[in-house]
Amino acid sequence: MVSPSVFKSLVLAIMTFSVFGDKFTRYAGITRLMDDLNDGLRTPGAIMLGGGNPAQIPEMQAYFSELCSSMLEEGKLTEALCNYDGPQGKSTLLDALAKLLSKQLGWPITAKNITLTNGSQSAFFNLFNLFAGKNKAGQQQRVLFPLAPEYIGYADAGIDEDLFVSNKPNIELLPDGQFKYHVDFDSLKVTDDIGMICVSRPTNPTGNVLTDEEIYRLDALAKQHDIPLVIDNAYGIPFPSIIFSDATPHWNTNTILCMSLSKLGLPGSRCGIVIGNEEIIRALSNMNGIISLAPGSIGPAIALEMIERGDLLALSENVIKPFYRQRVEQTLQILRRYISPERCLIHKPEGAIFLWLWFQNMPITTEELYQRLKKRGVLMVPGHYFFPGLAQEWEHTHQCMRMNYVPEPDKIERGVQILAEELDIAYREG
Ligand SMILES: Cc1ncc(COP(=O)(O)O)c(C=O)c1O
Repeated sequence: MVSPSVFKSLVLAIMTFSVFGDKFTRYAGITRLMDDLNDGLRTPGAIMLGGGNPAQIPEMQAYFSELCSSMLEEGKLTEALCNYDGPQGKSTLLDALAKLLSKQLGWPITAKNITLTNGSQSAFFNLFNLFAGKNKAGQQQRVLFPLAPEYIGYADAGIDEDLFVSNKPNIELLPDGQFKYHVDFDSLKVTDDIGMICVSRPTNPTGNVLTDEEIYRLDALAKQHDIPLVIDNAYGIPFPSIIFSDATPHWNTNTILCMSLSKLGLPGSRCGIVIGNEEIIRALSNMNGIISLAPGSIGPAIALEMIERGDLLALSENVIKPFYRQRVEQTLQILRRYISPERCLIHKPEGAIFLWLWFQNMPITTEELYQRLKKRGVLMVPGHYFFPGLAQEWEHTHQCMRMNYVPEPDKIERGVQILAEELDIAYREG
């Protein structure tokens, strides 16, 4: 008798998939990360410094509970649950968001400049494959990441192979064992095969925030080559506002800004928000119709209620941002209590929910360190996943590690203790 799991793998082994099928059934970095996250969340005692789950901030949890109860009482939640929205997403939210963003940031946008998606991850899939891949003349177009490391979730999101090109950064060494990446404009080439430029700001995995100057230069380059600049604003301004440096929000009709409800504390709502010119928004809405009929309605209904109550931006600024700011400062102190700058440099934390650690002289790779930590119940993510499209080998990619600083400080301390012990062992074996 063959067990169900063996049977499943036998079936997979003899099935013939399409080229698309072969590519999208691979065990990608992002799948491993989400698997680790899922297993870890269910393993007692595991220290989850790996995936990107946002914090369960008590004040936000209480707020969401109260909000959902009163929406249920008023029939708003049931109405959202029992109806499809249009392919562009809930129109009352599109109107409210357009008003809010144009008032708050002075952007000339209306509801026609916004579409919703089932999480911003799916917006990136659609955008990458809209602007990159084989063009109508049969030439391969690519997405340029001007500064690697970049978000792991982009790496496998191209239908065609070889969709991404990325550029090594300049590294500025800072006091107190910190460093900061900058776009290396001298080596950045926007060749004819580039169909789009994409950056996350704040950046997952590093916590970097591209300066206004860097954004202006990227914007100018994109316009000069007649291609869009995509800015992934999953952690940015004006919500959820997990950003600690001065950065001016940027949008114009050549920019596609992607936002999300996830890091507000609602990752289960799977709600992404894309702001772009009307042509791009029409294209993405039509893609929504074909791929998923319509984006889910629950997240948008909650977001609309938050805007109507005047809470969306206030909670971001007064609850979410201070929570993460305090947590990151605590985590930095813990790290430095156990690990010296000689062993580990830390990227200046300017935003997002991660610290990016650089073990410059470590005798083993961070993949090996990841395996050793995992055996001891500590989950982090080895750095090499975060360099999608980097053509040349670069040892730096095997010297870095991403840790989520969201768990409670006692858990972080335990994880950091184990990390310090594993570093000692690696150096002793040296
Ligand atoms: C930079 C960045 N972009 C996009 C996403 C995708 O978020 P979601 O699909 O939950 O909106 C994430 C999730 O961690 C992220 O960190």
